[in-house]
Formats: sequence, C-alpha cells, structure tokens
Amino acid sequence: MDVTWWKHGVIYQIYPRSFLDSKGDGVGDVCGIIGRLDYLAWLGIDAIWISPIYPSPMVDFGYDVMDYCGVAPIFGSLDDVDCLLREAHGRGIRIILDLVPNHTSDRHPWFLESRSSRSNPKRDWYIWRDGKPNGGSPNNWTSNFGGSAWAWDEATQQYYYHAFLKEQPDLNWRNPQVRAAIYAVMRFWLDRGVDGFRIDVLWHLIKDATFRDNPINPAYRADQPDIDRLLQLYSADQPEVAQIVAEMRHVVDAYRERILIGEIYLPIERLVAYYGENLTGVHLPFNFQLLFTAWKASSIGALIEEYERALPVGAWPNWVLGNHDQRRIATRVGPSQARVAAMLLLTLRGTPTLYYGDEIGMHDVPIAPEVAQDPWEKREPGLGVGRDPQRTPMQWDSSPFAGFSAVKPWLPVAADYAQINVAVQRIDATSSLSLYRQLIALRRASPALSHGAYRPLSVAENVLCYERAAEVESLQVALNFGDKPVELNFSTRSGKHVLLSTDRQRVGCHAPRILHPNEGIIVGNAADLGRLGPHDQ
Ligand code: NOJ
Repeated sequence: MDVTWWKHGVIYQIYPRSFLDSKGDGVGDVCGIIGRLDYLAWLGIDAIWISPIYPSPMVDFGYDVMDYCGVAPIFGSLDDVDCLLREAHGRGIRIILDLVPNHTSDRHPWFLESRSSRSNPKRDWYIWRDGKPNGGSPNNWTSNFGGSAWAWDEATQQYYYHAFLKEQPDLNWRNPQVRAAIYAVMRFWLDRGVDGFRIDVLWHLIKDATFRDNPINPAYRADQPDIDRLLQLYSADQPEVAQIVAEMRHVVDAYRERILIGEIYLPIERLVAYYGENLTGVHLPFNFQLLFTAWKASSIGALIEEYERALPVGAWPNWVLGNHDQRRIATRVGPSQARVAAMLLLTLRGTPTLYYGDEIGMHDVPIAPEVAQDPWEKREPGLGVGRDPQRTPMQWDSSPFAGFSAVKPWLPVAADYAQINVAVQRIDATSSLSLYRQLIALRRASPALSHGAYRPLSVAENVLCYERAAEVESLQVALNFGDKPVELNFSTRSGKHVLLSTDRQRVGCHAPRILHPNEGIIVGNAADLGRLGPHDQ
C-alpha cells in the first residue's frame, strides 16, 4: 500500500486574512494560524494550504506578489513562517504555500525594471506588444476581472498583458530566465521546509505564440461576467505548458515527499492532462467539478464515474467542495445538504480539500456594496461575481467579532455567528463540526475509505450509493440528496451496521431500509463498527 501523506491525507485551506487575527488589526496573520494548530490537529487534518502571505500591495489580496521570498508585515515575518513550520510539523501537519507564478504585482522590482525601457534586460520577462496599426490593443483577449487584458504603457509606448488586474502583469514563461527565477523561489521555500505548493492559475502560464484572437462564445448571456464573452482558446491551456509543469515537478522531486497541486479550471478531459506524461506533472490537478455539477444524485454519480474513467493509470484523484473564489457549500446546497456534501467529500476516492469554516457550516455573508473589498466585484458590480461573502472571518466563538479579532475585522462577521462557531459546535455531538471530525477520523482509520477502490452501487432519483473496498474491508455509502425519506435498495444492506450517519441517532443501528431526508450513512460489518465506530472527543 502506498501511504504517501498527500494520498491518504486531508488538506485544509486557510485564507490567512480571515482565520485568526493575533495582532489586533482586523486582519488574520501567521501567528493566528499557529495559535489554532491544536484545533486543526484535533479536527484531524493532515496539511494546510495557505493563500498568499507574501509582501503585496493587496490589490488582489496577496495574489499580486511584490516579493516571492518574503512575508507581508500584515501577516507577520519569515521568522513566524519558520515557527509555523516547526509547530505544524511537530503536530504532523504539513504546510503548503500558494505559488503565484503567472503574474506579479506591477510593483514587483522585476516589473519596475521591465517597464523602465524597451532595452531593459528584464523587458522580455513580461509580455509586451505593439498596438494594432490603428493603435488598438494587440488582440481581443479579456481580463478575468473584466475589460481588455492589455494595458497601455505611455512611457515605452507598448501594451503589456494582464490576465487579471492591470496591477497584475503576466510573466513571460517563454523566457528561460523567468522560469529559472521562479524555480529559485520554489527552492527557497522548499529549503525552509515547506511541503509543497498550490500553483495559482497553472493552466494560464503559456499563451499562444502568435497571440491569435479568442473566438466568440456563442452561449454568452448578458448576465455573465465579461470574461465569458470569449472562449479562452488561445490565452490559456496551451500544449507548451506541459514542459513547464514537468520542470516544476523536477524541482520538487529533488526533495522528499513534497507536493504540487495545480489550480486548473478546465473540463475533466483537459484537466487530467496536467498529471503529465508518465505522471511527471503535478501530483494533484485540483478537481473542481463538484463546484459546478448540479446537486442531484444522478449528476454527481455520473461525474464521479466520468472522472474515475478519465484518470490516467496510477494518477491519484482529488475532490474540492469550496475555496476562496467560490460560493460556500452551505450556501450552494443549504445547511442540511452541506452535511451530505461533507460525507460525499470525505468518502470519495482521492485527496479531499476542505475550505476553512466549511467544517462548521459557515455560509456566504451578504456584503453591502459600500463595504465590498474584492476588486472583481468592484469592476463588475451586480453580477454576483464578488468573492468577499466566502472570505469572511472564521467563527471561533460567541464573543464579539466571533473571537476572530479584538477589533472590527476587514470583512463583516456572519450575523448568526453566535450559533455557528467552533466553541458551540465542539461540545455538540450532532454538530457539523463533530460530523466532520468523525468523518475525518473514520477516513483515516479505514483502509477502504483512505485508499480503497470506488464502485458505484446504485443511483436512484435522490439517492446515490457506492462502495469503497480495500483488502479485507468494504464499506457502503448511501446519500440522500433530497428532503424526503427514501427507500434504500442496495442489496448488501443485510447484516450491516451504520458506522456513521449525518443523523447522529442512527450510529450503531442496523443498516436502515429507509434513509431520512437529507441523510447520508456509511455502513459496514459489525466488526467494522467496533474497530471504526465513533470515538467522541
Ligand atoms: C486564482 C486565485 O484563486 C484568485 O483568488 C486570484 O484572484 C486569481 N487567481 C489571480 O491570481
């Protein structure tokens, strides 16, 4: 059995601005994360991915990096990161940093040099083009945050390309010096003991060599953001990116047990290409399909099978329910189904990634326009693209500002934080937090769940049933995606017991004939119950 940590482990994403403010400035920080490592160890996760903590003007909240080898004072210092590494590793928790190689801040020294003159040695580190003969931008590519992706530089009379904000110029990954510089950044952090990287917009790194216009998207509707007007045929996911991914893999393979996770929003058949030829690409190309698939037993069942079929031989799967760019699961499917979603995520084959706060059922917080922070929301208001609602402060307890900070936080705290918080849920055996903790513990203890095969059993109108099986153990999972009771028809029910249910009272009972509304259960043999049954607190 291959027990590599990132295969059997659970990853937990922390948005550092919003986790815990230890300094009293309304913004979370690295020491705040250190202060909650005991909580994370108790929850049972194996690794933390932290969104960017580097020095940055924060125009895109850290995804605009000014110095890849430093720490923004608002988040702490390099010493704090060293302390985090020591403290986390001491608890068996790995640390994954966010690598943002596609673009820098426009205040990064590399860009300041690059824009200083056409003959500067770093000119070619970014993507500079002449305008069209009529002065128009070089092609029709649009920024992910709306408007043209080309910004005019008056001083040097050329355009530069930015896939996101104009304050985030894209690096030119066709330039070998750029590659070497980012690989040196990776080594800087790997040498410090970092366990891997989540790579921002990995599929964007290489653009079409001749900058052809992107085609019009025939399915575009007026209520969609600007980026959807065109199909991103030439501005991303180019064949040459494979070489770069392999080079990045080569960098981490010089170290023991490090991991690369790629942020890639592509359909399954393109996504799996990022495992690379002979698995020399990223270890885990993030699988975001659960974020966009209709929340129905049939659709989710079909998705799992499509994904399983598409995986290259030996490739390890992974699943994501939420992140800092997407609406929270509790908001997407409602609080009851969010518990079913937790059971799905933690019983599927492959590495699960949790988003901070989802374990207590945090939902999106409505943000009034005058307090909006997200640059995308500010550029395209009213379309619902804003990402502030899913980035609000972690709800620790019932004290003012949910125990996140002593002062008013950078984003408002959810109105119902007195009910939805860690302190309240920790002592409630029926809470979302208790369910997550038990699911994680069961997953860890069960060979079937941590590395067993996936086998679909049945899918009915609202019920999805599947089996996870390894060596001598096989467990069945049944999930009710609806709010009505449903009859279970999987035949292996007899002689089985409920190891875990979203409905606490069911645990230990014989496998039921009827699933309650919004119920998910995991069943196994009586012997499994003794071995894997819930061990509270
Ligand atoms: C993806 C990140 O997840 C998102 O938050 C950011 O705005 C863009 N990349 C640009 O870096």
